[in-house]
Amino acid sequence: MEVVSYLVYLIASVCFIFGIKKLSSPKTARQGNQLAALGMLLAIIVTLLDQRILTFEYIIIGVVIGSLIGAVFAIKVPMTGMPQMVGLLNGFGGGASTLVALAEYDRILTGTDVFDIQTTITIVLSVLIGAVTFTGSLIAFGKLQGIVTGKVVKYPLQHPLNVLIFLAIIVAGVYVVINPAEMDILLGITFISLVLGVLLVLPIGGADMPVAISLLNSYSGLAASMTGFVLQNNMLIIAGALVGASGIILTIIMCKGMNRSLMNVVLGGWASAGVGGPAAAEGAHPKGDVKSVDAEELAMILDSASNVIIVPGYGMAVAQAQHAVRDLMNILEKKDIKVRFGIHPVAGRMPGHMNVLLAEAQVEYDKLIAMEDINDDFPNTDVVIVIGANDVVNPAARHDQNSPIYGMPILNVDYAKTVVINKRSLNVGYAGIDNELFFYPNTLMYFGDAKDAISKLNNELKEV
Ligand code: TAP
Repeated sequence: MEVVSYLVYLIASVCFIFGIKKLSSPKTARQGNQLAALGMLLAIIVTLLDQRILTFEYIIIGVVIGSLIGAVFAIKVPMTGMPQMVGLLNGFGGGASTLVALAEYDRILTGTDVFDIQTTITIVLSVLIGAVTFTGSLIAFGKLQGIVTGKVVKYPLQHPLNVLIFLAIIVAGVYVVINPAEMDILLGITFISLVLGVLLVLPIGGADMPVAISLLNSYSGLAASMTGFVLQNNMLIIAGALVGASGIILTIIMCKGMNRSLMNVVLGGWASAGVGGPAAAEGAHPKGDVKSVDAEELAMILDSASNVIIVPGYGMAVAQAQHAVRDLMNILEKKDIKVRFGIHPVAGRMPGHMNVLLAEAQVEYDKLIAMEDINDDFPNTDVVIVIGANDVVNPAARHDQNSPIYGMPILNVDYAKTVVINKRSLNVGYAGIDNELFFYPNTLMYFGDAKDAISKLNNELKEV
């Protein structure tokens, strides 16, 4: 039986690795998800066949309750609520690792087995990382859901206090490893780690939460991997390591896309990010006249174009305008106009946000072109339609050294012959800064909620 379970674990691991590989392209992402889910199913079945399981009653009750809650969540959560849902799930993963490690410690303490140093070290690490992930993720969820303040929270002696708490946990952890008969101390470590999770995530601004959630996702993988060592389960070690590694890679990609360092995010960097606060209020605002167009005028401009690039952003997601945008693409294509989408890596509020929405609206994958592949094409483009995007097309990122987004790679939409920007007002986006693009001579503002405005435009285009 042991050989069979090793073999199935190996097959499951291969499914995970190829599943993640397939997730790297929108074309194969669904298959990748299914392959990884199949791997997980195999791993669960083999684990449940393990002879050490005495009774299935609790397992079945847990599976039924957990699946029900998970299914309701997954069906009900709107696309814009996905980051906090992922955050919550990370938290549950961390919490589970902590509980399993505590239970294993108790089992060894009260049973006939003896502690070995490897098991005790990994129990302590599992408890520490799992508990930090649990409360940190709950705070992240609360910030995005508006239950906890989304502002950057500073408190006295913030960094020394956190370092001190961390050192105290390490000292207590070493004590437990040397004297593994003290349940109270391990419970103490659990409690302090729970507090540390709150203190670490509270200072991070609400708008930086997607990055924090990705980092916590990586932590939850590490916690699971540690639990794998505790239970001597190779599958859990591998799966946890994969989550830990992919989570940290994604975090780095997000930071690069925003031109921020991980430290800057974690230490509560852009003080007012996402709230349009001081960064928007201070300093010189771009001046000049804004030219606006209505649906009829825009339809005429588009009618005479031969190639168009659509650049979606957070506003398209909020307005749920992806279906109207797909209709716009179809109408333009019927008029023999070449249409492509320019996708910025951090457009929206979560990785792949625009790809997911446009795929849901049945826009073909090969029309979604990544920033680095489309940026050279803007000078030869007749019209760019920016829909609910702001920071990712702000030219200040290229030249204004005082701008908080200076150095962030952007879509060079301003190089196109005409840029049309659809949003409701001249308001700021996530970074809380003005956008000089609105005042450029080749820019036309098309004001309105993305869904309404694009639907109106579609009606006008049909009549031209
Ligand atoms: P933003 O810069 O946040 O701008 C979105 C714009 O959408 C706003 O200026 C808003 O202007 C407009 N808007 C809101 N509701 C709308 C509606 N119903 N209809 C039309 N427009 C609407 O978005 P972006 O350009 O996509 O940039 C994303 C930002 O998020 C970047 O700064 C990025 O660093 C950050 N971020 C991204 C991620 C990931 S992984 N994607 C993670 C964390 C942070 P009005 O109010 O005038 O309408």
